[in-house]
Amino acid sequence: MQHAPLDFVTLKDRPDLLPIVRSWLGSRRSSLAGPEHCFVLLAGGVPAGTASLAENSLETRPDLTPWLANLFVPPAFRGRGHSARLVGAVEAAARAARVPTLWLVTRSAESLYARLGWHAVGPAIFHGDPATLMRRDLGPVQNPKPYRAESAAT
Ligand SMILES: CC(C)(COP(=O)(O)OP(=O)(O)OC[C@H]1O[C@@H](n2cnc3c(N)ncnc32)[C@H](O)[C@@H]1OP(=O)(O)O)[C@@H](O)C(=O)NCCC(=O)NCCS
Repeated sequence: MQHAPLDFVTLKDRPDLLPIVRSWLGSRRSSLAGPEHCFVLLAGGVPAGTASLAENSLETRPDLTPWLANLFVPPAFRGRGHSARLVGAVEAAARAARVPTLWLVTRSAESLYARLGWHAVGPAIFHGDPATLMRRDLGPVQNPKPYRAESAAT
């Protein structure tokens, strides 16, 4: 079977994709961080998922940054490993930004992230629901620096 070629773009490259990303994430999205850090996976040119590197995600933990946020794969594209690809893209961006540790909060996908090398840190409340705070250590980085998104996409 032939597979559609996969490609990553950011909302900085493709601002025309912002409406579809917004429609996927709905009102519960974390702020979309800088458009250069909001990734969209294209499968044969068709938007097939998104994930962001966000400055903030969990309101009660402003001390932690940055975050993997807004992971979403639309139903028609699920079960093809796209979530792992999107998580990998965000981790690579964090490494490139010399970030030593990434954070996320999830209500329902702890085991998915655990298989990708993430560790549960403890319980959290996210948008009023019970959730889990998780971290990903990205290994030693030279001259680690505080993460700052350049500008907001939303
Ligand atoms: C969760 C989600 C991103 C998975 O996307 P996907 O592209 O289908 O994931 P993959 O194809 O990479 O699947 C990876 C594996 O994780 C499993 N998985 C899928 N959703 C899962 C979940 N919520 N919890 C745990 N495991 C899950 C799959 O069964 C698959 O297992 P397998 O390899 O043994 O078959 C997608 O279902 C989605 O967008 N859901 C709605 C939004 C959401 O829940 N986002 C994450 C919350 S933080």
